[in-house]
Amino acid sequence: MEHQVGNFEFDRVVDELQKQIIAQEREIFSAKVIEHAHHPTNFGRIEEPDGYGTCQGECGDMMEIYLRLNGVGIEEAKFVTDGCGPSLACGNMLSRMVEGLSLEEASRIRPEDLIVALDGLPEESEHCAALAVSTLREAIASGGAVVESKT
Ligand code: FES
Repeated sequence: MEHQVGNFEFDRVVDELQKQIIAQEREIFSAKVIEHAHHPTNFGRIEEPDGYGTCQGECGDMMEIYLRLNGVGIEEAKFVTDGCGPSLACGNMLSRMVEGLSLEEASRIRPEDLIVALDGLPEESEHCAALAVSTLREAIASGGAVVESKT
């Protein structure tokens, strides 16, 4: 019983801490950044991808992007990063944005477009968007031949 009370207290403290963290995040980040960073639906790897890119940002953080292509373009995109919260948001938003686009369309996405899609990023996090876009371009470059052979 004591153990249950202890767990209950622990859960309450964690819950309270999470609420405080989210409240602090809201002062800095848009609701979209927070949502994508906390629930990165496209986080992960694709086995035997048709396109793969990896980049290291100026901050030292890494990102990888995996693409599954079909005859038309990008069917599925996934990413992993060991970076910050905004890099999670950028990788996730970008992976979702490119699904259904041709490689050519996806290659035209600029860091500014990603920042707009996330309803803005603080200036000190703008390089996280640049990291995601550079990684995507690497993945697209590696997958160009595949999409041609599948058409
Ligand atoms: Fe390194 Fe954001 S601080 S990717």
